[in-house]
Amino acid sequence: MKTTALAHANIALVKYWGKRDPALNLPATGSISLTLKELFTRTTVEFSADLAQDELILNGERANPRDEQRAGKFLDLIRAQAGIAAFARVASENNFPTGAGLASSASGFAALALAAAHAAGLSLSPDQLSELARRGSGSAARSIFGGFVEMKAGALPDGSDAVAVQLHDETWWPLEMLILITSAAEKEIGSTAGMNRTAQTSPYYPAWVASSVEDLAAMRDAISRRDFQQLGEIAEFSCFKMHGLALSARPAILYWNPLTVELIHAVRGLRQKGIPAYLTIDAGPQIKVICLPEYSEQIRATLEQISGIRKIIKTSPGPGAGIVEEEGERGNGEPEKR
Ligand code: PMV
Repeated sequence: MKTTALAHANIALVKYWGKRDPALNLPATGSISLTLKELFTRTTVEFSADLAQDELILNGERANPRDEQRAGKFLDLIRAQAGIAAFARVASENNFPTGAGLASSASGFAALALAAAHAAGLSLSPDQLSELARRGSGSAARSIFGGFVEMKAGALPDGSDAVAVQLHDETWWPLEMLILITSAAEKEIGSTAGMNRTAQTSPYYPAWVASSVEDLAAMRDAISRRDFQQLGEIAEFSCFKMHGLALSARPAILYWNPLTVELIHAVRGLRQKGIPAYLTIDAGPQIKVICLPEYSEQIRATLEQISGIRKIIKTSPGPGAGIVEEEGERGNGEPEKR
């Protein structure tokens, strides 16, 4: 079966940073995210006996060997579960900049998990898909679901309880997020290397892990009561705690550029003027401003005056991952397309 799946990116409101088991990619802390409608990855997978190795085409070009290997290792998990040996041709496209702190690994591995599992003939539940996607990238476990999603750290050594669950679907609360692209350059240190260095060298790491439990409870509460101020305050707290933690690694990890800092001041300035706007930042220099729809145009008009912003993307809560096209042979030998 040739299968195409679509998965949306997500942005964490309570961040994940650090692994309790690097081999199984189990997070040390839980996290809560918002799945985003306007940012997605579309991935087509086809297993074929004619291939001598896995092939990854990323945004129309053959991927570099490192990315291709990472995808190949992930496909090995699916081949093992499905009991097949064939290599796969994978074509994946993001409708947003790749590798610059815009969660391309989240939508990328969620789309790959769904498309490849289906193409290999596996029929997995959303929980099983989430567990599989997590093996590719921790944040990908959340992109299987739409709306507000919590990823559990879990406690079991095999990771079967480290899965994401939907808290509320995408219709629960019409928040908006303005993504301000400050640079399209690839980040200097990827999230896995950054997390591992942080866990090994930062004296603050145990406090980060311990204090996340309270943040998760407060965020769950804010979302269930649609309390925007509480959501914003906890999101900024978790974000700055994560970046402060990364800065306390040795050598320090700094994802921000000067424009990132300028925009942090600008968002604080908006709040001083009584405009409710909060921000979050992932492993990259982009700023994501969280706001209510009635303020988003005013916030955009103020922030777009700051020079150097390459692009502003307005997004809203989006759905979970899904299959968009399938084509191939079913048991009766009849070609099928939908
Ligand atoms: O899943 P990864 O390896 O892309 O790591 C995600 C790390 C952050 O985006 C910074 C935080 C998060 O929870 O998404």
